[in-house]
Amino acid sequence: MTKRGQFITFEGSEGVGKSTQIALAADALRSAGVDVIVTREPGGTPMAEAIRELLLAPRDEAVHETTELLLMFAARAQHLYGRILPALERGSWVLCDRFTDATFAYQGAGRGVPEERIAALESLVQQAVRPDHVILLDAPVETGMARATRRGELDRFEREEVAFFERIRACYLERAQRSPERYHVVDAARPLAEVTASVAAILQSLRQ
Ligand SMILES: Nc1ncnc2c1ncn2[C@@H]1O[C@H](COP(=O)(O)OP(=O)(O)OP(=O)(O)O)[C@@H](O)[C@H]1O
Ligand SMILES: [Mg+2]
Repeated sequence: MTKRGQFITFEGSEGVGKSTQIALAADALRSAGVDVIVTREPGGTPMAEAIRELLLAPRDEAVHETTELLLMFAARAQHLYGRILPALERGSWVLCDRFTDATFAYQGAGRGVPEERIAALESLVQQAVRPDHVILLDAPVETGMARATRRGELDRFEREEVAFFERIRACYLERAQRSPERYHVVDAARPLAEVTASVAAILQSLRQ
């Protein structure tokens, strides 16, 4: 039997460098001969990407927090069973830009959905599947926002106020503190090369 691949998620609030780091990490792992897929949430399959569009589009209609939560998990179910688990079973590593930690942070701490409600959906949708490792890119909210806003048009989440992102950052750090064996907190406020070196060292340790 082939060894199951590692399921590694990259988390952190807006603009901390998740997409940048995940691409660099994939390149480094591929150069070292590791079979890797890179994917993201919400999204990762055609149908889940369609749900992502629904979630991110700014709109006049108020979006109920339960609608948002269920759409996130609907996309996740499709992604997990259609793409992530098949890749892991083939022995590929899966690097995923955000996963359920982001739901606890954004819909939970950000929007105020009770943690137990998210945990119930997590068990329903994922059963026992959890990321093997979470790389949490942590930086002050203003640092991430300054990086993200340079990109132009803001999505429905990026239009939130600073306090929303402060709650998200605090939630991520608390979750990391609760399970230090699975979470790797990286200071993402540093220059790109330093952040990249920290992520590379973590991935190297996971290959042993
Ligand atoms: N360590 C760094 N120092 C300075 N700039 C950085 C650093 N890391 C990434 N950037 C730049 O910041 C911007 C945001 O980075 P990136 O898109 O990777 O963040 P993200 O976490 O994926 O954002 P989002 O949450 O919006 O998806 C990009 O222009 C990127 O080049
Ligand atoms: Mg990104």
